Amino acid sequence: MPKTKLKYFNEMSVTFSAVSENEAFARAVAASFISELDPLVSELAEIKTAVSEAVTNCIVHAYRNIPNGSITMLIRLLPDRRVYIKIRDKGCGISNVAQAMEPLFTTAPEEERAGLGFAVMKSFTDRLTVKSSVGKGTALVMEKTLQERLEREDNGSSEANSSAKSRRKPRSGTPMRQ
Ligand SMILES: Nc1ncnc2c1ncn2[C@@H]1O[C@H](COP(=O)(O)OP(=O)(O)OP(=O)(O)O)[C@@H](O)[C@H]1O
Ligand SMILES: [Mg+2]
Repeated sequence: MPKTKLKYFNEMSVTFSAVSENEAFARAVAASFISELDPLVSELAEIKTAVSEAVTNCIVHAYRNIPNGSITMLIRLLPDRRVYIKIRDKGCGISNVAQAMEPLFTTAPEEERAGLGFAVMKSFTDRLTVKSSVGKGTALVMEKTLQERLEREDNGSSEANSSAKSRRKPRSGTPMRQ
């Protein structure tokens, strides 16, 4: 019989209106939930920026001519310090995802958009996948593995370790049987 493995797992999901005020809300929620893993300040900043870009896209592109849109953000904290973030809208969708993901491609140059949102999300995470259906919406998944505490200490990159909180032993989290 295979051994039962205990795996770290924590999950949250939040749905909010696609209005610009909620960009800051989404960043704050993501940062707060992920802080459980005691990320580096730089890792947290990267995740917040990636979330901002994704949520802003939903607000400014997905629901351009569609009132009362909503955005759902799901975050999972997975084994081995892996963070999984899914951001989904039910807006206009993207007809050519590969083209949309090219750096500098934008459908809103008149609004001084740079066409760099996807490039930023890609560079600040380990994996970015986008699935979209015209008229139905877009779902974007970003994954990022946070540095191990020991690795950080070896590297001497310990900006997040200066606080009393960060010196605590990492919490083991909620175990999940698989
Ligand atoms: N959720 C979405 N729904 C519909 N279209 C989207 C969505 N996200 C991105 N797009 C399309 O993909 C294009 C590229 O997105 P990207 O974020 O890279 O650049 P941008 O938003 O145009 O500019 P920037 O992010 O630099 O302000 C957008 O111009 C838009 O046409
Ligand atoms: Mg953008």
